[in-house]
Amino acid sequence: QNNGFIKIVEVGPRDGLQNESKIVSFETKLELINLLTNCGLPVIEAASFVSPKWVPQMADSSNIIKSLNQSHPTKYTSLVPNQRGLEMAHKAGAKEIAIFGAASETFSRKNINCSIDESFEKFEMVVKQAKDFGMSVRGYVSCVVACPYEGKISSDVVADISARMFDLGCYEISLGDTIGVATPEESRNLIRKVSTHIPVENLAVHFHDTYGQAIANIYASIQEGIRTVDSSVAGLGGCPYAVGASGNVATEDVVYLAHGLGFLTGVNLEKLVRTGSWISEELGRPYGSKAGQAVLAK
Ligand code: HMG
Ligand code: MG
Repeated sequence: QNNGFIKIVEVGPRDGLQNESKIVSFETKLELINLLTNCGLPVIEAASFVSPKWVPQMADSSNIIKSLNQSHPTKYTSLVPNQRGLEMAHKAGAKEIAIFGAASETFSRKNINCSIDESFEKFEMVVKQAKDFGMSVRGYVSCVVACPYEGKISSDVVADISARMFDLGCYEISLGDTIGVATPEESRNLIRKVSTHIPVENLAVHFHDTYGQAIANIYASIQEGIRTVDSSVAGLGGCPYAVGASGNVATEDVVYLAHGLGFLTGVNLEKLVRTGSWISEELGRPYGSKAGQAVLAK
């Protein structure tokens, strides 16, 4: 036991579900969040206050946030792209939001319909007002290794965008490998570069698992000092504006890795596996966690 703690940010109810074409019922979403809470996850991204025309699956975000106990030790967070989303999140009782930008100009336009510079103008106002509301703000940078439209992205650009976002007042910057193409050496170099601008304790990693490298990337990231990891129960998910990208790394696999390295996570793996296999069944998908399958087979 090394007594260190790895904070897992469970993004399944948001990143995991946003790309499901069939609308998942409000009751199923709420049940998922409550089960995940019961697993001991410290942070759950529960909703997304984006345009329902862009992402219909997240249209019931206000009701989801209203239905959660915001004074629970588990923190519930939501994506917010603009002032409109912030006001809705605030009205619903949200205590934390996440803004999301990109290191790729084309992805920014496809995902949030504006350039990177325009996005920062919006973020500045959103962060300022969120702080006035007493909310904390997390920041995402997408396409930290590659973009589905532009290809390879320079880590200098990623470091610059991340620093701009951190300087706005985000307490944590999550580095998103949106299309899941990173390899461990690239992940390591990226974290070294970005952490020359932002303390490593304020960084998180967010790997999609398209090429099956996510768990190896997380291991490399932990070796570089990363202690916050985003993941999705059962490996659900994908981004609607990054065609072909698969789900996030499965939370079950991250928990197994972290515990195996002697870290604490506060997460009960057995309960998490029951939750992961249940939601996979609800969605009619094969259960996408290797660690989860192994636990079930025992
Ligand atoms: P827009 O069309 O440029 O915005 O979209 P607009 O201000 O012109 O508004 C258009 C319509 O949307 C209006 O309605 C607005 O009221 C409404 P209308 O007058 O036509 O009836 N609207 C809203 N409704 C509800 N909530 C709002 C909101 N804002 C406007 N907040 C916008 C701009 C940003 C809204 C749009 O592009 C959008 O919603 N994009 C979100 C895309 C998205 O959710 N992508 C997935 C999440 S990011 C991700 O997955 C990556 C991540 O996981 C990290 C990684 O893996 O890299 C985080
Ligand atoms: Mg993502």
